[in-house]
Formats: sequence, structure tokens, C-alpha cells
Amino acid sequence: MKSTNLAFFGLFGILIGMLSGLILSCAAPLPRVALFAYNLEDPYIASFVSQISDQVGNSFTLETYDARNSQVLQNEDLELAVKEGVDLLLVNPVDRLSAYGIIQHARERDIPLIFFNREPLATDLALWDSTYYVGAQAIQSAVLQAELVASLFGGNPQSLNLFDRNADNRIQAILFKGEQGHQDAEIRTTGFVETMTTMGFDLEVLALEVANWDRAEAYDTSGPLFANFGSQIELVVSNNDNMALGVISRMRQISLFEDTNQNGRVDQDDSGWIPVIGIDGLDEAVIQIEEGYLYGTVVNDSNRMATAIAELSRVLLGQRSWEDFPFPLTNEKYIWIDYLPFSRGLP
Ligand code: GAL
Repeated sequence: MKSTNLAFFGLFGILIGMLSGLILSCAAPLPRVALFAYNLEDPYIASFVSQISDQVGNSFTLETYDARNSQVLQNEDLELAVKEGVDLLLVNPVDRLSAYGIIQHARERDIPLIFFNREPLATDLALWDSTYYVGAQAIQSAVLQAELVASLFGGNPQSLNLFDRNADNRIQAILFKGEQGHQDAEIRTTGFVETMTTMGFDLEVLALEVANWDRAEAYDTSGPLFANFGSQIELVVSNNDNMALGVISRMRQISLFEDTNQNGRVDQDDSGWIPVIGIDGLDEAVIQIEEGYLYGTVVNDSNRMATAIAELSRVLLGQRSWEDFPFPLTNEKYIWIDYLPFSRGLP
């Protein structure tokens, strides 16, 4: 090619580049989405929020607000975002009953809403069409937890295996509950006990502690329980992994885990090993399952929920249509994501 031609194409290329830059800078700005987390110190929520932000990619800008467990603070942040006229609100409420006011407020400015993790009352969600909930059905996690426990104790309620350490055919357990009144905490606790009973197991609850989803609280409150009940305890059931990890730290501190068979690791083949079971599937929990301290967990699939939230956001922002929407929408409001059991040996 002659050099004059080369120069021409070079110049042409530069011109095209400048033009597209100009068009881009004139293009409409990206939609603005505001996300409100109840508390980013909660490791499940922190990882959930970062998964949402990963899934969103460059579809819209995402501003995250941390309410640090204060509904008052969350209301202030919400008010500001609504005033500024953001295009969509993603809300993990501190108190699920606050949803009523939040929805009324958003509706006045016609800003659609997606709630997640803490489910508002159905009557509140019904207040306005552009309101959705993405989450999981707590009862499913309770049933899966009970099934993991049943299989660990041999599956036959009439004849428990050696994990029934005092061989009385009953399972002596201590339970750690999340926040009082929180839907997941209430349903997981009663659901676990009821499912065990329905399956025919004789569960003796030695103690039920409320530890507010929190690791340090579970560590603190479990100390006196191990001191009082000692070797009577055959099972620790927790409403989430974070509290289970707190209890495990306590158990390690008082030397409840010992490699009695000297195979170089702690596991359920060691005599005196006490099973601990959680819910969520935190990365740290998976590591402790591999290491043998945590028996199992039930994955509260935030990764899939994050995908659902990102896809639903795109629909509500007019970036995609409902056609081929990859998640079933129940009652035009709910996207339900399944829990999954996870323990060593399970995929
Ligand atoms: C639950 C989760 C808990 C805690 C709680 C906060 O679904 O299992 O670990 O994060 O949500 O609302």
C-alpha cells in the first residue's frame, strides 16, 4: 500500500475514534442503583453484597449504604437516595416491618424496589406492583439441617449409632438462634426441632441461646453451656455458620477437639468428637468442614440470589425484557432460591 493511502486510513481511524468518544460522552449516563445493607459486619451479608456488585458489572452504578444495624440510619440513607432520584432501590431492611414505610416512600417517586435477605410481610409487598423479594424459604434450611443430623446419627431413630454417646437413644443438643423475631431465626429453630420429631428422633434440647447471628456472642454464651452440660452435649445446631464458628472457637479453646486416633487431623472418627452444624456456606465454614471441626452446613445460596437480583434489576431498569427471564417469578413478586446441603462427602 502506498504511503499516501496509509496516511489517509490513519487519519480516518483517528477521526472515527474521536467521533465515537464524542457519542459516548453524550450518551445517557448509567442508571443509578442504591443498595441498603442491614449490617456489613455480618460476614454473610458482606459477601452477598460483594457478589451483587460483581454480578452487576457495568450495567449500572451501584452505591452501597451500611445501616450498621440501625433502622434509623437506614431510613435516613433511604430518604436521601429517594430525594436524589435514584432509579432503583435494593433493600436488606434492618427491621422487616419497616418495609411498609419504605414502599410508600418509593412509590411516591415511582422508584422500584427489590428487597432481599429479610422478607417483608406479604401485605406490605402487595402495596405496590413494582416491589419484589429475592430470598430463600427458611423452612427448607431447617429440614436440610435435620436431614444432615439424621444421617450422621445413622438414619434410624430407633437405634442411633455411636454419636449417641450415652446410648440412651436420644440426641442431647444445644441450639444457637439468630436474632429474636427474625424470620429465618424463628423458622430455622422451630423447623429443625419439629422436623427431627416428625422423622421420629428423640431430640433433647439442653439449652437454646440467642446469639444474634454473631460469632463473638456465640463464643461468649457457649462457655457456660459447655461448663454446665459438659459431656452430655452430643450435638450443636446453629442458625448460621458465623455463630457455629464462634462455638467451634470455644470448643477448641477448651480442648474439645482431639485427634484421638492420631491420624493427623480432627475428624468424626476421633472419640468424643461433637458435631456442629450451621447454615450459609461461608468460605470459612467450608474450610472448617474440610478440617473436620464443622460437620456440615446448608448453603444459603447468595451467589444465585445475587444473579437473580442483578437480572431483575436489569428488567426494572428497562435493560432487558421479561422474555427468557432465567428465574421463575412466584405471585409476580418472589424469586425463591433453593438451599443446598453441604458436608464432607457430599458434592
Ligand atoms: C440469614 C443468614 C444469617 C444472617 C441473616 C441476616 O439469612 O443466614 O447468617 O446473615 O440472614 O439477616
